[in-house]
Amino acid sequence: MNNILVARNIEKSYESGPKLLRVLDNISLEVPEGRILFIVGPSGAGKSTLLHIIAGIDTPDKGDVMINGLDYRKLGGRKKSRLINSDIGFIFQFFHLLSEFTAVENVMLPALIRGENRKKSREKALGLLENLGLGKRAFHKPFQLSGGEQQRVAIARALVNEPGIVFADEPTGNLDKETGGEIISVIRKLSSENSKTFVIATHDYNLVSEGDNIVKLVDGRVVK
Ligand SMILES: Nc1ncnc2c1ncn2[C@@H]1O[C@H](COP(=O)(O)OP(=O)(O)OP(=O)(O)O)[C@@H](O)[C@H]1O
Ligand SMILES: [Mg+2]
Repeated sequence: MNNILVARNIEKSYESGPKLLRVLDNISLEVPEGRILFIVGPSGAGKSTLLHIIAGIDTPDKGDVMINGLDYRKLGGRKKSRLINSDIGFIFQFFHLLSEFTAVENVMLPALIRGENRKKSREKALGLLENLGLGKRAFHKPFQLSGGEQQRVAIARALVNEPGIVFADEPTGNLDKETGGEIISVIRKLSSENSKTFVIATHDYNLVSEGDNIVKLVDGRVVK
């Protein structure tokens, strides 16, 4: 199977007073195209740090990350921003929606930034919201939406530029169990119907099903 993402020998440390705290210790992983990879482990294991590094939001001290065979750390600023805005999508734990904007405007924004015109961006955004069951909520602002609805808007926003790979940091972490279950079903459906690739960091082992790809982290090391 083709790997859309390959990370090799990733290391990351933070200063902690006079000492260096090693948060990721020689992590290597592969993400097969069209699949869901779960990064699981207890709180503080390094899941978010690893996710940020492989998504290009943060840089490792050592190691390489290739997406579609490209090492974006070696790309210039503009090319790198374009890659991050178009080739990857990111879903944050706390949604990070812009509160002054409606759902559809939030979803349109990455498309507008990419240079898509208003009409097309809007059509795309409305289509995605419709698909995610939010057709009737498109003109609500975030505070008028439930937690699960806000997370679905965040998913739509991550998908609007049709990225090959979508990263999600605790996508259900801020939701009750039932709503969290709905979100994970939405992600599974997107993955199987559109062969989208997802990388999900979570401390909730219940999200993982038989046959999923898993990387288990404990204290910054892969244990499985
Ligand atoms: N900017 C930073 N400066 C110093 N230490 C940091 C920084 N960011 C993270 N850490 C440390 O790195 C370790 C891993 O953090 P990370 O957020 O990756 O864990 P996590 O597995 O995502 O945990 P959680 O399940 O609680 O979200 C933690 O011990 C944390 O204290
Ligand atoms: Mg985390």
